Amino acid sequence: MSILIKNGKIYINGALIKKNIFIKDHKIIKITSQNLKADKTIDAKNKIIIPGLIDGHVHFREPGQTHKEDFLTGSMAAAAGGITTILDMPNTNPPTTNLQRLDEKRKLAKKSIVNYGFHFGSTNNNIAEIKKVKDVTSIKVYMDYTTGDLKLDNYNVLKKIFSSNKTVTIHGENENIIKAIELIQHAHNHIHFCHVSSKEELHYTKNKKIKNSISVEVCPHHLFLTASNVNELGSFAEMKPNLKTKEDQKALWEGIHNGKIDTIATDHAPHTKEEKYEINYPFGVPGCETMLPLLLNALNEKKLILKKIIQLCCENPAKIFKIKNKGFIKEGFDADLTIIDLNLEKEIKNNELFTKCKWSPFDGWKLKGWPVVTIINGNLVFEYGKINNIVANEVTYNE
Ligand code: NCD
Ligand code: ZN
Ligand code: ZN
Ligand code: ZN
Repeated sequence: MSILIKNGKIYINGALIKKNIFIKDHKIIKITSQNLKADKTIDAKNKIIIPGLIDGHVHFREPGQTHKEDFLTGSMAAAAGGITTILDMPNTNPPTTNLQRLDEKRKLAKKSIVNYGFHFGSTNNNIAEIKKVKDVTSIKVYMDYTTGDLKLDNYNVLKKIFSSNKTVTIHGENENIIKAIELIQHAHNHIHFCHVSSKEELHYTKNKKIKNSISVEVCPHHLFLTASNVNELGSFAEMKPNLKTKEDQKALWEGIHNGKIDTIATDHAPHTKEEKYEINYPFGVPGCETMLPLLLNALNEKKLILKKIIQLCCENPAKIFKIKNKGFIKEGFDADLTIIDLNLEKEIKNNELFTKCKWSPFDGWKLKGWPVVTIINGNLVFEYGKINNIVANEVTYNE
């Protein structure tokens, strides 16, 4: 099947250009002024075509917790949010900490309608598996307690993981960021800090100059909510790391502008409403459907520019995690594209969400700027509120 997207503006190399995109065999074949003949034409008049978003941090809960989410419902939420690739976290049940469980997860993910990759979990005694594992996004290390039971506190093991020649993603809160940086002084692999949430944490991540590269992720909930939202939302605004002060929020926005923050990921962490009402409620909030609308609304409010959104949500995650042929609109690259309408105003409504948990801390927020069409591997997967259930692929990695 071939598709021609015409009449829209395409984001290429930092600029918006008026051209058509010709897609065939799952790839972007041509960016052209010609009106090439295609099986299907999409009219993108008054709209902008951007690279599909790569969400580096989601919890789609398979196996073991499919009452919260699964690869189909999670990926539907992603597609509706303009996300064309997700990278799934290992704190499932059982956790993804050995090759056999990774194989099982690969089978479960085959129903995903967005492209996917896997972060591999670490424990105090799976270093042999970490050395063997191939084709994963990163090795995930949990230095603090959070959902799942993967807290790793043996610093000798941490040191070994940090020098394993694989990208390491870290859940480390507060001083654990300093500890991690101490331990990685002589490692030469890439270290990625998940969900950095405060002024202090941000300061720690980019403070010390060390040889190996460090990247920093922030989440929409820390950019758009503060601790005061917990008064109204209760456990529905409780996640790890927790919401911080206005001053912290301001520091994160500054980090976005001054380049201290490399990427925004959702940390999509669905739990059912019933679970959230329990006394010992679990931590985490869903986010796949709301990240891009929140950012586009912020763009309309002049809080950031489109170029920044694309760097943070498309280009940089592709670079950090070495995802092949994605993150940019380029001839020969995968046809993962999101069409946005900066003028569309719509309200986030719990009952209209695709995530299985059917709630969002942003319920009731009226936003201007929404994704309207999502094309994944050259297939029209999301179109003005409707989902076409077409399965996607596992990502591949550069070198
Ligand atoms: C995540 C979850 O529920 O899996 N929860 C959260 O509050 N962020 C785990 C995590 O990312 O730490
Ligand atoms: Zn975490
Ligand atoms: Zn060194
Ligand atoms: Zn997470």
